[in-house]
Amino acid sequence: MQEWEITVEELRRSLERGEEIVLLDVRSAEDRREWFIPGSVHRDIYALLKSGDASALQDFSVTAESPVVVVCNRGRTSMVAVELLRKQGIPAVSLRGGMQAWSLAWNLAAVPLGSDGVQVHQVRRTGKGCLSYLVASAGEAAVIDASVEVDVYLELAERGGWRITRVLETHVHADHLSRGRALAEATGATLHLPEQKRVKFGFSPLGNGDLIGVGKATIEVLAVPGHTIESACYLLDGKALFTGDTLFLESVGRPDLASEADRETRERAALLYRSLRRIAELPGETVVLPGHTASPVPFDGNPLMASLREVLDRVQLLALSEDQFVQEILSRIPPPPSNYLEIVRLNEEGASVDDPSVLEAGANRCAVA
Ligand SMILES: [Fe+2]
Repeated sequence: MQEWEITVEELRRSLERGEEIVLLDVRSAEDRREWFIPGSVHRDIYALLKSGDASALQDFSVTAESPVVVVCNRGRTSMVAVELLRKQGIPAVSLRGGMQAWSLAWNLAAVPLGSDGVQVHQVRRTGKGCLSYLVASAGEAAVIDASVEVDVYLELAERGGWRITRVLETHVHADHLSRGRALAEATGATLHLPEQKRVKFGFSPLGNGDLIGVGKATIEVLAVPGHTIESACYLLDGKALFTGDTLFLESVGRPDLASEADRETRERAALLYRSLRRIAELPGETVVLPGHTASPVPFDGNPLMASLREVLDRVQLLALSEDQFVQEILSRIPPPPSNYLEIVRLNEEGASVDDPSVLEAGANRCAVA
């Protein structure tokens, strides 16, 4: 059956090359609502396929020569669809491991900052919407919030001729396993985390106002408690702000996902408000580069970014008073991401697991929209 399958990496590369592919999603409507591959078409036939109904794809046809890739949750039901399509003369293949495996797929976009000699690359985990960054200047690079396999950053740095000297985390993550510690170990880079006593491994702490260098660029630390108590934003050369999960392009971070022992959500919501007000005082042209996006990231090379002015216009919550903000936030908090307590525990320990896609499966839920 293996020749009827395509791996995540093969599909990822094809999409990155801009090849025409028909992606057929056969999951339930409910599963699709959670997350999907951008550009995929949906047929709500999961139950039909499961029941062995041979007519499930009877009316499915393709006009062009484009290859058809069928996607389900774990790559088993999609194989049933592939068999049906092949009987109908369509040489479809199944995405091995389904959406669970696709959770690890990523793509890249360059971030234009108009800054002399400083390059920023956005590394996007397309399914989960985790955004990490590589900042490069004068032969050196820093990686912020590494969320895909270490080799991706190593290859990117090698291609650019940069040595990764610093690895930074904006906070202890609850939605994905950090690859920061492993990346620092693989490169010999300094591992920086905001000052806190949550993690059980060694790191170089960063506090409010600290300055660190990457080549000729400077990163300033802004302590922004709220999403988590230790959360920090990193300001690059006074121009671009890596906001982690504190401020997104259309929403703000949720204040309720940390270890159980952490402070009250209400208190953290108030801290988040004060942190966001401080961020709002930065110049309007500051480029906001968030740690997440809510929707799957297309393979279009367009960076997810906006000016602080645009973000402040969009995020109505920021115009509220502190009391109103806290009340709104508490009433809008979405369900927690799957396995978040286990992910927090592993990130506090600095542990890595063989197949992170099992723990990390599912959509990102770090925001309060
Ligand atoms: Fe987070």
